[in-house]
Amino acid sequence: MTQPSFPSPKVFSGTVAVVTGGGGVLCSAMSRALSDAGAKVAVLDINPEAAEKVAEAIRAGGGEALGVRCDVLDRASIEAAADKICTAFGRVDILVNGAGGNKPQATTGPDAAFFDLPPDALRWVFDLNLMGVVLPSQVFGKPMARQKRGVILNIASMNAIRPLTRIPAYSAAKAGVANFTQWLAVHMAQEYSPEIRVNAIAPGFFLTDQNRFLLTEKNTGELTPRGRSIIDHTPMRRFGAPEDLMGTMLWLLSPASAFITGIIVPVDGGYSAFGGV
Ligand SMILES: NC(=O)c1ccc[n+]([C@@H]2O[C@H](COP(=O)([O-])OP(=O)(O)OC[C@H]3O[C@@H](n4cnc5c(N)ncnc54)[C@H](O)[C@@H]3O)[C@@H](O)[C@H]2O)c1
Repeated sequence: MTQPSFPSPKVFSGTVAVVTGGGGVLCSAMSRALSDAGAKVAVLDINPEAAEKVAEAIRAGGGEALGVRCDVLDRASIEAAADKICTAFGRVDILVNGAGGNKPQATTGPDAAFFDLPPDALRWVFDLNLMGVVLPSQVFGKPMARQKRGVILNIASMNAIRPLTRIPAYSAAKAGVANFTQWLAVHMAQEYSPEIRVNAIAPGFFLTDQNRFLLTEKNTGELTPRGRSIIDHTPMRRFGAPEDLMGTMLWLLSPASAFITGIIVPVDGGYSAFGGV
């Protein structure tokens, strides 16, 4: 039996990792961490400047990275990105499905009753968070099935475990991501290879651009009542920082978790364990 190579600092040497939403707050940090661990990284984002900025910073630090414009809701765009990655790096070993997010129009509030939330806004959130995981898994899962090896990591959310108030589409979509993680784990292992694994991280609360408007007051930066309530329900009494996700990500992508597939790991400062009393 081979020994797990984690925590070897260069556990991903010789591998190619694709990170969707790689221009964003959490997934840019994941892209850098994968590069630090030896992977060549394809940073995919609908915002090409954001993707290139992250790739450029990785190259400046001595790593290998490619910034690629990719819309995770457009199969042709994902396939074009896959072609570019294949030309540049020749293979794909790792897929991190990080693109996702909520939008204010799909959020209930004093002036936005659930009954009136526009279908377009709800559909946008469902699509981005769920189809935005399914479609890249189809495109990048195919070469993994061919080579009979690969690892997929989906970024779900605390909402997948306990739906939060105000964000119905985001909560349901992330629950869908958790369910799809289990489905795909079973499908890949049974139909293609037990060496293709699919897992997810369920981050708790990380202050980023997509939720800043919900958690802090725009003018003062003070916590909103919702932000305060989250801190009060997080036994570790803080929001997460991107670095808090890296150990779990590296573990779930590395051979240290070779016998683990179909799980959703909360990284939440204890939020999901706490009953509030
Ligand atoms: N921030 C949190 O507290 C938190 C908590 C739980 C889960 N998450 C999840 O973590 C992931 C990353 O979130 P983040 O906080 O870093 O957000 P972010 O907004 O900083 O990053 C998301 C990135 O996805 C990109 N993107 C949006 N639509 C896209 C599309 N159609 N195709 C390709 N790329 C697209 C954006 O341009 C952006 O760069 C998301 O899936 C999010 O739902 C975040």
